[in-house]
Amino acid sequence: MPRASDQISAMRAGLRWTLTLSLALALAACDTGKPGAPPTPAQEQSVVDGTVHVCTSCHGFHGRSTAPTFPNLAGQQRDYIVAQLKAFRDHTRADPHAHTYMWGMAATLSDATIAGVAQFFSSQEAAPGTPGDPTLVAEGQQIYKHGIPDRQVPACQTCHGANGQGNAIIPRLAGQHPGYIADQLQNFASGGRANPIMHRNAKNLTQQETLQIAAYVGSL
Ligand code: HEC
Ligand code: HEC
Repeated sequence: MPRASDQISAMRAGLRWTLTLSLALALAACDTGKPGAPPTPAQEQSVVDGTVHVCTSCHGFHGRSTAPTFPNLAGQQRDYIVAQLKAFRDHTRADPHAHTYMWGMAATLSDATIAGVAQFFSSQEAAPGTPGDPTLVAEGQQIYKHGIPDRQVPACQTCHGANGQGNAIIPRLAGQHPGYIADQLQNFASGGRANPIMHRNAKNLTQQETLQIAAYVGSL
């Protein structure tokens, strides 16, 4: 019985190989025969389509994922997706799952391909919210709307929007998997995912509060 970690690295190696191959095939399919010529829009689109196909193996059909390890990308803010892919590519987003799953995926993406996949996923219809435990959801809503003033936790809605829709480099949280949201709040608090704004916002939350917030935004 192979160990789970061996299976994961085999899966990652396989996917990386598929990504390289599909990019090579996409480029070869529309080779103009002019070495050094910049890709035409049609060639770039074909690279984007091949890349999206690889991404959906984890992030789900049209970017709606079925497992909490893999965040939904459908309907996510375009500028946020661009910023995160560049952060995976230059290793500034360094929480454990970023390292394990996304560094390899982002390593070979050009800026033009990043722009293309971000355009694709941001324009897909977002996954609908999933109703959570009503008590957790109500407690999470209270924090999301009003913060926790005596512990310097701000109201999340001032940046992430009244409906969790996000804005530009501020991510959409609505409908995201609660397990993924809770993990990221812990990553910000520990500094594994380095971001000064979100470190300040997350460091004073208890674990129970991260679960409440996660249940609330997941229900939107
Ligand atoms: C092997 C599975 C896998 C593949 C294939 C994959 N991803 Fe990911 N992706 C993940 C995981 C896991 C995370 C969450 C990382 C974390 O917890 O920090 C993630 C996170 C992301 C994020 C950050 C989302 C957020 O809300 O912060 C973006 C953007 C992203 N991936 C885009 C892509 C794109 C584009 C591709 C295709 C080039 C791709 N991914 C391929 C597993 C994968
Ligand atoms: C001052 C603006 C601001 C406030 C207030 C704020 N956030 Fe954020 N949040 C951000 C930014 C900017 C990012 C993107 C960080 C990055 O690029 O890594 C972010 C990222 C996140 C993420 C990561 C989502 C993903 O897809 O990976 C979560 C979860 C999150 N915030 C939750 C919260 C919660 C919960 C609160 C309230 C306690 C809150 N935020 C308050 C600006 C803010």
